Amino acid sequence: MSARTLAASPGLSDGDVARIRVDFPILLERPHGKPLVFLDSAASSQKPLQVIGAMDDYYRRYHANIHRGVYHISELATEAYEEARRKVARFIGAASAAECIFVRNATEGLNLVAFAWGRRNVRRGDAIVVTEMEHHSNLVPWQVLAQETGAALRFVPVDDSGLLDLTQLDTLLDGAKIFAFTAVSNTLGTVNDVALLAARARAAGAISVVDACQAVPRMPVDVQAWGCDFASFSGHKMLGPTGIGVLWGRLELLDAMPPFMTGGGMINVVRLQSSTYADVPARFEAGTPAIAEAIGLGAAVDYLEAVGMDAIHAYELALTRIALDRLAEVSAVKIYGPPFEHRTGVISMTVGDIHAHDLATILDSEGVCVRAGHHCNQPLMEKLDVPATTRASFYLYNTAPEIDVLIRGIEKAKGIFGIA
Ligand code: ALA
Repeated sequence: MSARTLAASPGLSDGDVARIRVDFPILLERPHGKPLVFLDSAASSQKPLQVIGAMDDYYRRYHANIHRGVYHISELATEAYEEARRKVARFIGAASAAECIFVRNATEGLNLVAFAWGRRNVRRGDAIVVTEMEHHSNLVPWQVLAQETGAALRFVPVDDSGLLDLTQLDTLLDGAKIFAFTAVSNTLGTVNDVALLAARARAAGAISVVDACQAVPRMPVDVQAWGCDFASFSGHKMLGPTGIGVLWGRLELLDAMPPFMTGGGMINVVRLQSSTYADVPARFEAGTPAIAEAIGLGAAVDYLEAVGMDAIHAYELALTRIALDRLAEVSAVKIYGPPFEHRTGVISMTVGDIHAHDLATILDSEGVCVRAGHHCNQPLMEKLDVPATTRASFYLYNTAPEIDVLIRGIEKAKGIFGIA
């Protein structure tokens, strides 16, 4: 399929994408003298001028600490930080801004739940259920919680097509306190039915904790429609800066949780022997937070909303379909993950017996950035019986011709390794 076909596809037109690309200065870079083809947004997306500008503006015009100063620029900074929280809350359909805790990244949000909710509510004899497709960030915190509490850790299997096998879900959830699962697999691109999984968790008396890292950047998300209890995601995958992420939680759960970290900013009254703690969200934001990064994330939300999440999702699916069709025509390419209908714009592959790092290095020589390795998914790699895959992921600034560059790079690698 060509770029011309894409123009007729749902989502964004070629003209829209051309205009979007102008906002991303990094796309003018020429690594190894080749145009940059950035196919690694699942790891971290690029940043538009609007995000870079919002952070620059803060540092140039009104940098000050927040929630502490009574002077004008501190009030400006506080207002911008809290406005970013309101933007994020609206963007994900939270019931209130207080439900959105600024954290460093999705990993920190998941650890926060495991520590603050988990250690208070999980006991020996309980179960914690996760899936076999979890990123390490939504696996290791639950392993540690299980080890510390004596709770059992159970796994929803991934079937041969890369979908969750839910046939034993009710048995797995029997006696569970927590069901933690990803909305979208960062390796397979599988889109899980969050509303269904959250409902099954609730029916079993467990809370649901969603790794929303790959979903919030790519598709419209409404946490209330999902019906889950917690969702965690990173700013840097959704056009925002690194160092900022969001833990969303239902207010009554957050309200009942003890702090994760303690110190300045999260207290109410401090005496020498003991302290009382601030209300949510401040209770979970100890110390000076990532102010510039929160403001940058707010600008990223503005950008995504201006383009439209429906359009971004439809466009990403269009690119995914093109890529799957094109890759299917390339001999020796093996794609992992479910059929197109269950996917979003993340494609993991192997090419003959070329090691993923060799393939990624050859692609890099053509200006193509992909991720190679286990994708923080070592148990899933074991299940797939591969040491590593090469992963291409798409976002709103990618184009169909860039998929052609990817394919040419794969053909080059096959040539170098003598693969027919
Ligand atoms: N979680 C990121 C990825 O999947 C880093 O690449």
